[in-house]
Amino acid sequence: MYLESPRYTERFGSVRINDIQKVVALDSGLKSEIPPHGAMGVVKICEDTIKDFEDKMAIVIPIKNEKLKLFEGVISGIPHDCLIIVVSNSQKEPVDRFRMEKDTLNQMCRYTYRSAYIVHQKDARVGEAMKQAGYTELVDENSLVRNGKAEGMVIGLLMAKLAGKEYVGFVDADNYSPGSILEYVRIFAAGFSMAKSPYSMVRILWHYKPKFSGGMYFRKWGRVSETTNKCFNSLISSRTGFETNIIKTGNAGEHAMSLKLAELLPYASGYAVEPQELVSIFEQFGGSLPSGPADVVRYGLDLFQIETRNPHLHEDKGTEHLGGMLLAGLSTIYHSPLCDEETKQLIISQLTIQKAMKPKQEPPKPHINRPPCKVHIGEFVKHMEPHLETCSALYED
Ligand code: GDD
Ligand code: MG
Repeated sequence: MYLESPRYTERFGSVRINDIQKVVALDSGLKSEIPPHGAMGVVKICEDTIKDFEDKMAIVIPIKNEKLKLFEGVISGIPHDCLIIVVSNSQKEPVDRFRMEKDTLNQMCRYTYRSAYIVHQKDARVGEAMKQAGYTELVDENSLVRNGKAEGMVIGLLMAKLAGKEYVGFVDADNYSPGSILEYVRIFAAGFSMAKSPYSMVRILWHYKPKFSGGMYFRKWGRVSETTNKCFNSLISSRTGFETNIIKTGNAGEHAMSLKLAELLPYASGYAVEPQELVSIFEQFGGSLPSGPADVVRYGLDLFQIETRNPHLHEDKGTEHLGGMLLAGLSTIYHSPLCDEETKQLIISQLTIQKAMKPKQEPPKPHINRPPCKVHIGEFVKHMEPHLETCSALYED
């Protein structure tokens, strides 16, 4: 794979925020004709390097009642050496969609000789293991994990830890293009290979997100992401005193982290999760507030934003859904102790203009699940390990 080299990096405390790097070519061949780093502003990421990182990576797919055909396509796009972890919150009655997902995954794993896990978000054993770990805010009054994509992600990343992986990536299940899934994961691997620190994150920016209305329109920026990025940049500018537009992936659902970093971050409920990750990175490592672990301050944190070649084609879930997503995302910035008055006003005006909130209201505080490092991960592992085999896609019950 050829990527633009990280030509521009902005620093925010210990965080190195790299500006967008585009994928120049999806494949770079076997012959090493250019030096591995530095030629012509382009980095060559060798196939072996990509494969090495894929082998250390788990890909978590959160899914809730998506079309089976889409799910089937998504899993077919995940590189063979990655461990697939599906966390499903799909219905079991009257139609058992979870069963259908399990069967689909089982078939793919049998035919292609690979392993995968699939677990239901409402599996009582998972809820119990979370409770034993002290993750009280993640479970409801019935001792089951709460609803939400973020909650599914937490299950997935703890399973990745249990499976001994070093990196965890997230891809949605409602993607129409298996080839773009392959690209996302290759980008994750490429990003990690460029990191200098063991604490790293790769966030995907889609080349285009086409809209269908009669013909096809290759739209680049969605309204939600444009606004979220604007508010993030306002927050950074207010802290550094220099206006910036460095953040371009505030909402990136497709993203990946080293597990070392994943364990340090809190996970806000539902769709607030991705913006909250960035907010927390800036809070813990941005230098304005008391710092996070000394190790991160020493090594720094590498944040990559990489733009795909493939367009992003996913299910359209309607405008109401987008309003909720905007509100959830901006509330994480609004309620951060880092947020200045000007950014707060910007958030309120954007939410009101876009009718995501009524005038004269404040965005609600997000529900935050503590970072895994603050709970007893060991207890989760102890309680889940005996059930791991039954979560395997190859397990026949
Ligand atoms: N396990 C689980 N539990 N999965 C869920 C749940 C849940 O409660 N709710 C939704 N999902 C799954 C969906 O099935 C899908 O695979 C994925 O999470 C994303 O949900 P969508 O409802 O499709 O979200 P979106 O497409 O509007 O937004 C996506 O892109 C945004 C912008 O990049 C999400 O990834 C957002 O988190 C992201 O901010
Ligand atoms: Mg979607």
